[in-house]
Amino acid sequence: MALHPIDVELPGDANSRYSVDWSGDAQGQMLAVARPRSVDEVRAVVAYCADKGIAVIPQGGHTGLTSGAISPKPGCLIVSLERLNAVREIDEGNFSITVEAGCLLQNVKDAADERDFLFPLSLGAQGSCQIGGNVATNAGGVNVLRYGMMRNLVLGLEVVLPDGSLWNGLGGLRKDNRGYDLKQLFIGSEGTLGIVTAACLKLLPRPEVTETAYLGLDTFADAIDLFSRARRSCADLMSGFEIIGAECLPLAREIYPQLQSPLAGDAPVHVLMEVSASRLVPLRAMMEVFLTQAMEADLVRDAVLAASIAQAQTFWRIREGLVEGHGRRGYHVRSDISVRLPQIAPLIEQLRAMLEDNFAGWTSQSYGHAGDGNVHFNALPPAGLPLPQARAIGAQIEGRIFQIVEAMDGSISAEHGLGRTKRDRFASSVEATHLTMMRTVKRAFDPANIMNPGCILAEDEVAA
Ligand code: FAD
Ligand code: LAC
Ligand code: ZN
Repeated sequence: MALHPIDVELPGDANSRYSVDWSGDAQGQMLAVARPRSVDEVRAVVAYCADKGIAVIPQGGHTGLTSGAISPKPGCLIVSLERLNAVREIDEGNFSITVEAGCLLQNVKDAADERDFLFPLSLGAQGSCQIGGNVATNAGGVNVLRYGMMRNLVLGLEVVLPDGSLWNGLGGLRKDNRGYDLKQLFIGSEGTLGIVTAACLKLLPRPEVTETAYLGLDTFADAIDLFSRARRSCADLMSGFEIIGAECLPLAREIYPQLQSPLAGDAPVHVLMEVSASRLVPLRAMMEVFLTQAMEADLVRDAVLAASIAQAQTFWRIREGLVEGHGRRGYHVRSDISVRLPQIAPLIEQLRAMLEDNFAGWTSQSYGHAGDGNVHFNALPPAGLPLPQARAIGAQIEGRIFQIVEAMDGSISAEHGLGRTKRDRFASSVEATHLTMMRTVKRAFDPANIMNPGCILAEDEVAA
């Protein structure tokens, strides 16, 4: 099969943007990068690699946080989907949009918005991450508590399988019980079962009114109490409930120097809460009553309800900026953990104590999607600590984080996937039957293990 019409960069330049991801944590290796322009070209590349036994790594926007789109070993072909980026169809009557895998999430959201629809997946990386990557990682983000993760938003998929054949499962049906729901296997498979080339996604009516509140609280326990109240009082109108430890604000300010805390005074815990609905719902009045009652119950110390869209955006800038701020600091311990909702506050308390008591000079940063039981607890090394030492101590800290989470029957990866960074920890902690089922699925789709080998499952795990 001729490869020459397909854009292939040879040999893979170790410093190219395809070798280093957003985090900069790992330096990838590769044989070359292919950038197919059509599904047929993806098929041709994969069929060629299957024939020659060359490993293939699907790559989207390269914003994944577990080194899933990077190979530590040379000899693999990176397949970047960036040129496969058309919006194929918007079916207004079906409330659906069909897009190619390389579409940026932001572009899909904009295309929906232009037709008065909402595509609700929202995350800080939305200007860079691609729909294929969102499917492959089952991305979450800040609106999961109302709209679910990517899995809840996918109606159908088109996938190039590891032998180069094509599965057209784009259907676009909301109900279809004809046997196994195969698309679910690819969602969250992190590029290990095939290359997603297109997705049919749910659209929702675009909310006409949104109210955004920035709140100051005394404790994370109060934040969870507040969430439970909001869940009952605002029911399904609540679209976001993010917690932010006050210690994260200086990091956001490193990205947006003009940024001020919206609160009048200090509060150790901040909550960013969003509700949205059609114009028929008296949303502002509802929020005013809800917040008044929460303040009377001493759950909320200070509350600011955004007076304009611009002010709401400044609230969200704190949330986005702190993540960018962590990124700019370079190496740090990053975590993406989940527990049952009542355990969020004890989890953060234990993690903070673990860091303070054992790792002098390291500072913790706690934030996350409290409504989903998902916390990002990060640890920044002391200034000036040489990188090799920081990495060695960071690995110990990560191990302690995982121990605490596992003791609470939580997850060490709530939304970022296992990739290569959490793979071994997962394998050593999960029960044998679980791992056997995962291996069986992988072998069924990819017996030669050419599709993103080493991601999710170690290569010897698959071969064994
Ligand atoms: P990549 O990083 O390119 O790839 C990720 C994985 O998917 C790899 O294993 C790759 O092989 C596979 N893959 C990519 N494209 C395909 C394809 N077409 N077919 C098959 N496999 C493919 N994640 C969240 O869940 N919630 C958040 O709130 C969130 N916020 C973030 C904020 C920032 C600032 C950053 C940098 C990242 C954030 N992330 C978040 C992580 C990341 O953005 C998501 O995991 C995203 O879905 C990855 O998409 P991508 O296109 O960048 O994928
Ligand atoms: C976030 C990413 C880091 O929640 O998951 O911002
Ligand atoms: Zn997150």
